[in-house]
Amino acid sequence: MKNRSTLRIAEIRKENFDINTYRFNFDLKAKPGQFIMLSDLRGGEKPFSISDCTEDHFCITVKRVGEFTKRLFSCSPGDLLSIRGPYGSSFFISAGKVLLVGGGYGTPPLYFLAKHLLKNGAEVHVVNGARKAEELVFCEKFQKLGINYENTSECGRLKNSGTSIDLVEQAFRNNSYDFIYAAGPEMMMKNLQDKLGKLPYEFLLERYMKCGVGLCGNCTVDPLGIRLCVEGPVLSKALVEQLTEFGNYHREASGKRIYFMKTDKGKK
Ligand SMILES: Cc1cc2nc3c(=O)[nH]c(=O)nc-3n(C[C@H](O)[C@H](O)[C@H](O)COP(=O)(O)OP(=O)(O)OC[C@H]3O[C@@H](n4cnc5c(N)ncnc54)[C@H](O)[C@@H]3O)c2cc1C
Ligand code: FES
Repeated sequence: MKNRSTLRIAEIRKENFDINTYRFNFDLKAKPGQFIMLSDLRGGEKPFSISDCTEDHFCITVKRVGEFTKRLFSCSPGDLLSIRGPYGSSFFISAGKVLLVGGGYGTPPLYFLAKHLLKNGAEVHVVNGARKAEELVFCEKFQKLGINYENTSECGRLKNSGTSIDLVEQAFRNNSYDFIYAAGPEMMMKNLQDKLGKLPYEFLLERYMKCGVGLCGNCTVDPLGIRLCVEGPVLSKALVEQLTEFGNYHREASGKRIYFMKTDKGKK
């Protein structure tokens, strides 16, 4: 389905203070890692990853950060939103023992991936991290999958404390994995990449998107010039390793570079 569809919000689920999941009763035929372009018909269109998709519904999970997402938080079930998609590359569905590493609103698309990996017979281990325990999302949903699920927060009352990378290091001491997947803050993925050595992996990356279909060039990444809306947002290890801008900078709507803070594990 690549055409625009206007859909009613079937359900809004509050995940935490700043994150909501929106369900639409529509057969989107999406694959894990893909995204939609969403408009609320009041100006602007923004990309959102698909956090679940079956034959009768799909979900997106949205963090309130600015004007557009604030408007989405004022929507109610029954309101109309307009979508295009699904767009972009999807995750490779591996077998064997796999580790999924998520942070913030990057974690929900890994839930959709985990379901497909399980169907493929993979042994799935998930590490979900946040700054504060109350910011963690999708904990119960992952637990209900009956997988090895662990969460951690940098400040909180959980069994594990520290970053998701601390938990990954612990997991590597006790396990060997066949494939690693990650989505979330780019500096989290950059720190993770440093731990992966020869292990195969895929990362879900984000860049400012306008058209979502490869026409405007806004989402290209240096130095390859690949368009994250078409060749991404899921990139293989071979591609990530060639990106000089990965973990270094991204671009705002005007194309101006915004450099990541080296200590910034929580943004982008
Ligand atoms: C492939 C992809 C998947 C995404 N999936 C999710 C998701 O599942 N859940 C979620 O909450 N957010 C997701 N985002 C980010 C989401 O698009 C932005 O948070 C949203 O556009 C912010 O709009 P705003 O007006 O509320 O905030 P603004 O104040 O306009 O911007 C706040 C932040 O969002 C980023 N942003 C704004 N517009 C865009 C845009 N057109 N493309 C990319 N980033 C933008 C800005 O760079 C800025 O850092 C995804 C982005 C991409 C590229
Ligand atoms: S958003 Fe236009 S080319 Fe990717």
